[in-house]
Amino acid sequence: MKFFVDTASLDQIREAQDLGILDGVTTNPSLMAKEGITGEDNIMAHYKAICEIVDGDISAEVISTDYESMIKEGEKLAAIHENIVVKVPMIKDGIKAISWFTKNGIRTNCTLVFSAGQAILAAKAGATYLSPFIGRVDDINWDGMDLIAQIANIYAIQGFSTEILAASIRNPLHIVKAAEAGADVCTCPLSAILGLLKHPLTDIGLAQFLADHKKANG
Ligand code: E4P
Repeated sequence: MKFFVDTASLDQIREAQDLGILDGVTTNPSLMAKEGITGEDNIMAHYKAICEIVDGDISAEVISTDYESMIKEGEKLAAIHENIVVKVPMIKDGIKAISWFTKNGIRTNCTLVFSAGQAILAAKAGATYLSPFIGRVDDINWDGMDLIAQIANIYAIQGFSTEILAASIRNPLHIVKAAEAGADVCTCPLSAILGLLKHPLTDIGLAQFLADHKKANG
């Protein structure tokens, strides 16, 4: 399973990259706004800066919601760097745009996915990645992980090549469960990735090893 970090913070992207396990980055308009990145030129420059830190797929989301504007915006985003993946919302014009991008060699990430039916449409349109939002499904008292498993099953039966990118990850257990359910990629806040490290028996064991070494070696 690939690991993406889900942030527009250059500091967090660098920290995740330094771990040596990072395969890419996802952003969205809320994450860009949170970092105070506004205005087209600054937004484009920020994506370029991310591409210079991480040699992997970088999702950059369109703001337009009509087909023609999505195509124009997506072409501009894709021209920033070969690793840019154009993130397109799961709406009617979005599906049309994904089909066009696919036919024209531009890779896409279909975002805001909450059902298996949407997942089938995105795969038919040729999306490179599909982003089901696990955490937001859990928030309304459904099971986000069931959705990942259902989509993974459908894609395997049908032979779809779209990669399942588990998004809206909120904690380390989400990452483990998404891996179990068949996600190809997890995009995670840095805190959830670092949370995977934690186990009290590791800390106790290491303290014991170091204490025994000290006792034996002075
Ligand atoms: C990433 O592609 C998504 O935009 C992101 O994971 C959404 O996460 P949230 O539901 O925590 O905002």
